[in-house]
Amino acid sequence: MESAIISEIPVKKSNIQLVGPVILLGAPGAGKGTQAKRISERYGIPQISTGDLLRENISRGTALGMEARSRMERGELVPDELVCKMVADRLAQQDCTRGFILDGFPRTVKQAEWLDKHLAGNHIFEREKGSNAPVVIQFAVEYNQLLQRLTGRRTCPTCGRIYNVHTQPPLTEGVCDIDASALVTRKDDRDDVILERLRTYELQTLPLVNYYRQRNRLREVDGGGAVDRITAETFKAIEDGDRL
Ligand code: AP5
Repeated sequence: MESAIISEIPVKKSNIQLVGPVILLGAPGAGKGTQAKRISERYGIPQISTGDLLRENISRGTALGMEARSRMERGELVPDELVCKMVADRLAQQDCTRGFILDGFPRTVKQAEWLDKHLAGNHIFEREKGSNAPVVIQFAVEYNQLLQRLTGRRTCPTCGRIYNVHTQPPLTEGVCDIDASALVTRKDDRDDVILERLRTYELQTLPLVNYYRQRNRLREVDGGGAVDRITAETFKAIEDGDRL
């Protein structure tokens, strides 16, 4: 069981101008969303969570949301072409020109191939110098910790802040520290769906580790333990080398 690891260290803003694409890989519950928010704060680039975008579509009742809903509730992936189109639309927005964080995308080899082509062919992301290739960070976390994290997760429906009843509890039980909204449990954080999501991850997403390793883009970060230590290693992975 992980111990309580409430993060105390505020994120320091960076003055780096061009960050480029950052991809966060990892199993459900690996901490992609938690770390994405901290990366976004440090570098001033947007977090693009395909899970959040799909959930927004579901709550707005769009055609995409209707298509995605039952698959997400079963712990399966939404079809590649729908997700790629959604990501293309999001990347075309003005706030992505200095860089962006992809949280939960790509999730299949097809999505990764699509993304490589999209980044290569799209001048909006061209950097003044250096490579436009993404930095890919893989968070490795033990299976039992993933289960504990997912069953204990609570989210603020207003500001999106993520809590955990075991490891990152709010100051008042069930209430967001920031805006006092009542915290909610995600529909797909039910035991049976969690197991299916973890199976789906192993079958369809884990092959991406090799995909990016072979292209020499993978940075591996131990995603177990204190949030602040993981954040520090993540920032280092983003800033290392000749990419920035
Ligand atoms: P999505 O929303 O992306 O869910 P996921 O990948 O399953 O990831 P999670 O959000 O569950 O976990 P996380 O890694 O962000 O962890 P978090 O930071 O919240 O996708 C949902 C569904 O949408 C998919 O199943 C699929 O159907 C569909 N979908 C999405 N993208 C798709 C795509 N590209 N293609 C097709 N379909 C797609 O942390 C988890 C918990 O752990 C929290 O409670 C947190 O407080 C706690 N925690 C975090 N870090 C630590 C730490 N260091 N120590 C202890 N606790 C910690």
